[in-house]
Amino acid sequence: MRCIADTAPSPRAVPLPEDRLAVTLRGFRPSDVPFIAAIVADSLHEHYDPGLYPSLSGEWPEGFLVAANPDEVPVGFLLGVSQVEREARVLMFAVDRQHREVGVGHLLMRTFLDRCRDRGYRRVTLEVRVSNATAIRFYARYQYSVIDLLKGYYSDGENGYQMARPLP
Ligand SMILES: CC(C)(COP(=O)(O)OP(=O)(O)OC[C@H]1O[C@@H](n2cnc3c(N)ncnc32)[C@H](O)[C@@H]1OP(=O)(O)O)[C@@H](O)C(=O)NCCC(=O)NCCS
Repeated sequence: MRCIADTAPSPRAVPLPEDRLAVTLRGFRPSDVPFIAAIVADSLHEHYDPGLYPSLSGEWPEGFLVAANPDEVPVGFLLGVSQVEREARVLMFAVDRQHREVGVGHLLMRTFLDRCRDRGYRRVTLEVRVSNATAIRFYARYQYSVIDLLKGYYSDGENGYQMARPLP
């Protein structure tokens, strides 16, 4: 399984430092589903049952971060879960093309790692396509390193890397 979300209490909104795009971070809302599904289809080339997002957000609401524009429309998100004791996993992470390379991804990742520390997690894992050089470079900036090769991991047969980083 790769994605997740629900209607539990929203995490506190976090404004972007420069406020360049007036993007704020908040928790997932059920009304976000069509926007998030569009970002997923375009950025991750995957389609999930719309019910998956609300159901996964219920497990760890603070682990599902949504970056929204002033009209409350999601322009990026990071969906994290915890399936192993004291460990988090980034299940989905994407920013809408029009909003990339201005810091939205860094804001999402930084905030997510803080939330993981708040919960006392010791490690974060994720999977990424071997061809996704942009994301691999981004993750390397955050001290993620490759721990495994996942043969034929993706639905189109592409291999994946499993990456992980410790949380001090
Ligand atoms: C990976 C991804 C989420 C990064 O999101 P993003 O919002 O573009 O990330 P940021 O803007 O924070 O950082 C991207 C780059 O822009 C640069 N950047 C950040 N803020 C900037 C600014 N204010 N001005 C100019 N450049 C900036 C950063 O240097 C960064 O480069 P780096 O990775 O070498 O550090 C995005 O590329 C994406 O959605 N990709 C498609 C989906 C995907 O691959 N997801 C991961 C699947 S595992």
